[in-house]
Amino acid sequence: MTAAAAYNHQVDGTEAQNKAINGLAQEFDVTTERLRTITNQFVEEMRKGLDHEGATVAMIPSYVTGRPTGEEVGRYLALDLGGTNLRVCEFELKGKGDYSVKQQKFVVSDALKTGDMRDLCDYIADSVDTFLTEHCTLPGEGEEKLQLGYTFSFPVLQTEINRGVLKQWTKGFSTKNAVGKDVALTLQEAISRRNLPVNVAAIVNDTVGTLMAYAYSFPDTVMGVILGTGTNASYYEKTANIKKWSPAENDVSAGSDEMVVNMEWGAFDCEREVLPLTMYDNKVNRQSRNIHQQLFEKMISGMYLGEIARNAMLQLIDQYLLFNGESSPALNTQWGFETAYLTAIENDKTADLSETKQILEETVGVASSTTLADRQMVKKIGEFVGRRAARLAASGIGGVMSHCGKVGQESIIAIDGSLFEFYPKFEHHIREGLTELFGQEAANKVRFALARDGSGLGAAIIAMMAHKHGKH
Ligand code: BGC
Repeated sequence: MTAAAAYNHQVDGTEAQNKAINGLAQEFDVTTERLRTITNQFVEEMRKGLDHEGATVAMIPSYVTGRPTGEEVGRYLALDLGGTNLRVCEFELKGKGDYSVKQQKFVVSDALKTGDMRDLCDYIADSVDTFLTEHCTLPGEGEEKLQLGYTFSFPVLQTEINRGVLKQWTKGFSTKNAVGKDVALTLQEAISRRNLPVNVAAIVNDTVGTLMAYAYSFPDTVMGVILGTGTNASYYEKTANIKKWSPAENDVSAGSDEMVVNMEWGAFDCEREVLPLTMYDNKVNRQSRNIHQQLFEKMISGMYLGEIARNAMLQLIDQYLLFNGESSPALNTQWGFETAYLTAIENDKTADLSETKQILEETVGVASSTTLADRQMVKKIGEFVGRRAARLAASGIGGVMSHCGKVGQESIIAIDGSLFEFYPKFEHHIREGLTELFGQEAANKVRFALARDGSGLGAAIIAMMAHKHGKH
């Protein structure tokens, strides 16, 4: 899209409304030039993160070395904590990339997210107990424990495959007595209190799990990316490049040439140097549980897009340019406008946007009867916010590809998350961003693969690898 076309949006409304919507288009645009600046900065931040501890983009060694061959076999448990749900799974790895899975979901209440870590771990251990009772055959007396891969999708500074302390919470969690503590040990203690025959064999970031799950079938997969409630990526790095890392002498990963690095890219540019933050982003940040942290994530991920759009709508309402100046209790409430509404609105193909009308008037409770222009404006806002998120994700992906020397090579990127799966045109916009960065030919060589729920399978594979390497 050319610069002129980018700000030439039309709604069936007044001149003032059209002016406002084009103003928003401009505010939410990430120009090609800006995309390049962000990508270059991203590469620079990656380098810093690999070089020393405490960098903004943490670039955490995951202790996952080697690639799955697809021939891994056995029965492994996986836990997935990171967004709205807790998932407990049992995988039967059958080799040749084949597997079967039994799984159960448990809701993580807001009280648990903000309560004490001991209660959260007790809840997780109880969920594992329920799952084992209902779905699994337990090991007999004297038999080996079940090995569990624990997908814990927050920044954990790992020191071993199954050891690591929580650096900080993200995505609305603020559970107490957790930061600075070992997440595997705390869970293992809760499991042991219940005498469950389970060993936490590995801590796994969801991006690392996603990468491994896809690599189980396609060993050449380059990156694992999450574009869901939160966002992050991991990729294979040469151990020689991870300058800050010196393995313990007895560490099994010591001799490996490559290791998966959990980037924690959501923290990128907390210094606010290159991200095109708008006043709506600043407000989301200011009102969040983790102020001034995860700014990249706050512009990209599903937890925040609805909230950014809500703030943009409120601004228009207060100028009497939307909904005749009337809001609603939901719209006036933080998190009162879900990203899922934006998805549905962008998918509304009816001529009069009747589905949008229903969402706005019935679900969101906008008091006045909305006009077509109102609905078109909300749809546009969703489009701008989504496109910007995808373009920023493209700069992250592009940064990793440049750093790894993968530009112009056939590359598979495994992606999971609701935004990528459901948000209209998300993949299209990422590809468009990559095309602007690297040209059509290079962009065409990148394949995005949806790795749905990959992190569970990945965690099971990693638990298997850790177990095989004799880590108990
Ligand atoms: C967390 C990452 C995680 C990502 C996606 C972020 O908030 O810090 O560890 O990979 O969300 O779930």
